[in-house]
Parts: sequence; C-alpha cells; structure tokens
Amino acid sequence: MVKKVAVLTSGGDAPGMNAAVRAVVRAGIKAGLTMYAVYDGYKGLVEGKIEEVDRNFVSDTINRGGTILRTARLPEFKEELIQNMAIKQLQAYDIDSLIVIGGDGTFKGAADLSKKGINTIGIPGTIDNDIACSDYTIGFDTCLNTIVGCVDKIRDTTASHRRCTIIEVMGNRCGDLALYSGVSEGVEMVVSKDMPMSEEQIFTKLKSLKGGKKGHYLVIVSEKLFDNVYDFAKRVTEATGIETRAEVLGHLQRGGSPSARDRILASRFGVAAINALLEGKTSVVVAMQNEKIVTVDIAEAVAMKREPNKELLHIISTINR
Ligand code: F6P
Repeated sequence: MVKKVAVLTSGGDAPGMNAAVRAVVRAGIKAGLTMYAVYDGYKGLVEGKIEEVDRNFVSDTINRGGTILRTARLPEFKEELIQNMAIKQLQAYDIDSLIVIGGDGTFKGAADLSKKGINTIGIPGTIDNDIACSDYTIGFDTCLNTIVGCVDKIRDTTASHRRCTIIEVMGNRCGDLALYSGVSEGVEMVVSKDMPMSEEQIFTKLKSLKGGKKGHYLVIVSEKLFDNVYDFAKRVTEATGIETRAEVLGHLQRGGSPSARDRILASRFGVAAINALLEGKTSVVVAMQNEKIVTVDIAEAVAMKREPNKELLHIISTINR
C-alpha cells in the first residue's frame, strides 16, 4: 500500500515543474499520504537530500520558473551500484513510491527503481516536447512563447537593416520547438530533423528570395545541426550576398514564469500521478493524448519514436515562403 511518496525533478529544468511539484504534494497530502521532497534530482537522492514537506512548502510556487527542488544530470544513475545507493536512502525514510518529473533519461532511472521494488511514476517535464507518448510536455508551451517573443524582436531589427537572421533554438534533436515557432513566426525557412536542408539548399532558397519586395529573411534552425551557427551565418553572407547574422537563444529559453497552459498541464499531471499510485500503478508515465490524461508503461514510453506534427509540416510548406 502506498503511504510515503517522494518527488524529484531531474534533467533540464522546465517552466511549470514547480506547478507539477505543487500538485503532487497537495494531492498526496489530501489523499492522506506523507510527502517528501528530494533535492538535486537523482544526484540528491543518492546523497540523501530528502525532507518531509507539508502543503505550505509549495505555496506561491505555481507561477515560478525553474524548479524549487533544483535539478541535476546524473548519467551514472544507469549503474546498479548507484541505484542501490538511492534505494537505501529511500528505505531509510521508509519511502515506498517516487514521482519523477523530467524527460526520457529521468524515466529510464525510474523504470530501473521500479524493478527494485519502488513504485515509480514519471511526469513529462521538458521544454523539448520529445516524449513521444504525450502530445505535450510541461515547459514546451512557455518555451515556445519565449522563442516567439524573441523572434518578434529579432524581426524588427532584421527588417530595419534588410538582413537575414539565423535563429538557433533548443530541442535536443527534437524539431518541435523549431517547427512550432516557425509556424508561429511565418519564417522563410525552418531547418530541423523533420525539415532537413543542406547548406546549398538554404543558399539557393535565399538567393531565390533576394531582390523580392520583402528584403529581409528569418531562418529558424534546431540546435545541434550546425557546429557553429555564427560561422554558418558568415557562409550565408558569402554565398548569397545577403548580410546575415546569427542568434543563439540558448538557456533563456528554459527560464521564465510558466504559461497558463503549462500550469494547467502540470497540475493535471501531478494529480494524475498521485491517482495512478493510489490505483496501484507503477512504472508508468502520465501523458496527455488528445487532451485526455492517460498512463503509459515507462518502457513503452521511452521506446516510442516521436513523430512530427504532420499538419504543421504541411502548413509550413503551404503558407511559408
Ligand atoms: O533538454 C532540455 C535542454 O534544454 C535541451 O533543449 C538542450 O539540448 C539541453 O537541455 C541543454 O542542456 P544543459 O543545460 O545541460 O546544457
């Protein structure tokens, strides 16, 4: 029977993680469970950074970016020895269940702990939106809106100077941030895993647009496609004669107050995670599919391949230039 539940955040932080922690803690307490916070993700779990929390612990956090539990990356958590250290810490507090908020890597760790007798539930929290079993992850919407706000500003100066600007966005090999922001901004080109283009193709397209009435161009590219986007911008200038700049939006994409949509999604996921535990589920991820919250086996969830949104791909190729 579920009695004592811990919650942690792991991997890259995402706006809305606090709203999820809040929902987990409050729904757990409401159900009569004893709730614990783990600091610094799996690293903190291994080190025993665990404390019991009450409902006030999460007061005034729903609007805050980052994660009050802090986070860390611990690739060594794959190792059984390290996992056993984490289990020992949980046993020291008599904790029977763990809710982890993060991405794929976080879920793999949870699946391993589940095999060792800890009930585990995963909540998708990452700006990348790369959890295939869920239509959306916590943080994606806020991040997308941050990108759109930045590109709006970059557009002003790009247009004033009649330049081309290459804007690199995050996504960790998932093209969703590039695709959704490309649709939102109506940019000339999106270059991502789902919309690959060679340098030559990019030059050719820009040259074909050059001399047109508009006279300025925005290109959104996913991170990790170009070794150095600043050098790429120089090559664009040389090849096309269009003065080109590069902007790497970087970690500012991960910060900021979560959007209403992320706060609501996080609250739904948090309550669903506690319900899943109460129903006796373990080693599952809560996910949003067609606006409904469902649970999916963790192993299945991490094995699933993310498909790009075909409708948005079609929209880009239909109405962007
Ligand atoms: O997974 C979130 C993310 O922001 C990715 O988009 C990016 O590739 C990565 O994390 C960056 O990680 P770090 O902050 O550890 O450099």
